Amino acid sequence: MTCVPVSGAGFATYDVVVGRGLLAQAGARIAPLARGRTVIITDETVSALHAAALTASLDAAGLGHEIIAVPPGEGSKSFAELERVMDRLLAAGLDRKDVVVAFGGGVVGDLAGLAAALFMRGIDFVQVPTTLLAQVDSSVGGKTAIDSPRGKNLIGAFHQPRLVLADIDLLATLPPVQLRSGWAEVLKHGMICDAPFFDWLASDGAGGATGDPAALQRAVERSVEIKSAIVGEDEKEAGKRALLNLGHTFGHAVEAELGFEEAALAHGEAVALGCVLAFRYSVRLGACEAAEAEKVARVTAAAGLPTELIQAGVFTADALIARMAGDKKAEGGRLTLVLARSIGDAFVEKTVDAADLKAFLIEQGAT
Ligand code: GLY
Repeated sequence: MTCVPVSGAGFATYDVVVGRGLLAQAGARIAPLARGRTVIITDETVSALHAAALTASLDAAGLGHEIIAVPPGEGSKSFAELERVMDRLLAAGLDRKDVVVAFGGGVVGDLAGLAAALFMRGIDFVQVPTTLLAQVDSSVGGKTAIDSPRGKNLIGAFHQPRLVLADIDLLATLPPVQLRSGWAEVLKHGMICDAPFFDWLASDGAGGATGDPAALQRAVERSVEIKSAIVGEDEKEAGKRALLNLGHTFGHAVEAELGFEEAALAHGEAVALGCVLAFRYSVRLGACEAAEAEKVARVTAAAGLPTELIQAGVFTADALIARMAGDKKAEGGRLTLVLARSIGDAFVEKTVDAADLKAFLIEQGAT
């Protein structure tokens, strides 16, 4: 079991605990933070699988609890669902002493975190992430949001959790595609700033992509250490935090074209493809050796993740560029991309030429 502290100038330090059997300890670990009751916000799938273990642990610690279960899937990151959750919190008579427990994947974490940020101008919340993607990325760093019909994650707040409990055992019930999807974010952390970690993920640690608990423990720990260091320096994404968006501008464009249909492409699969495209584009700009991009593609493919646009669908370059330019990460109409000099050395490029990017996308299989 490892405890990774997340410290920054603008928020209270909190721990991300990574280990096995943590759900059984959740009550004891949350009790020191809770001066009142807990409200568990979860989804119906996670609730059916794991809520009994969580509530038993809260009971053992003498913590009162209530459960709000939302439908699984991105559709729950909506104003309608947020309103329903807020109404339930009000109806339950929650006050500032109470604690929200976000118990699920990225959708639940984002929705519950935003509800906690808004309720009575902000109450404490704890993240208990149940997917690999949420454990290595979305549960850490305080980004919370719902979607707008105009784009994903456009309505939200920075609201840091008080504690994150990443129980590796919960990953055993994940469908393989969800495990692979989270693995893409793990690989991304190595690509951004830790080449030896990337090499380990490609060799001794590779079993994590298919559920090996020891490899997953190390992969989650190191990912959280990397993310914690970045968020500690730049909570509000004024600079360095943007590196965590490696692969996301390409990936979001592909997801948006596919309509964010979860069956079509999982978020991490889109990020994996996006990372490969970011490395290939870095090579095109002369920033990176071709061998590095080839290695990224090889390791990504070995984890069962897509490396070619055609694997995701049929896209026009114009449509992808339009999505990329509309990405909320674009500044002043210019295209911003996270690129790389090598594996482990990513950087933000704010002056990407749209015509050149279009030519690149056509080379990559867009029409
Ligand atoms: N998922 C990227 C970030 O938290 O900044």
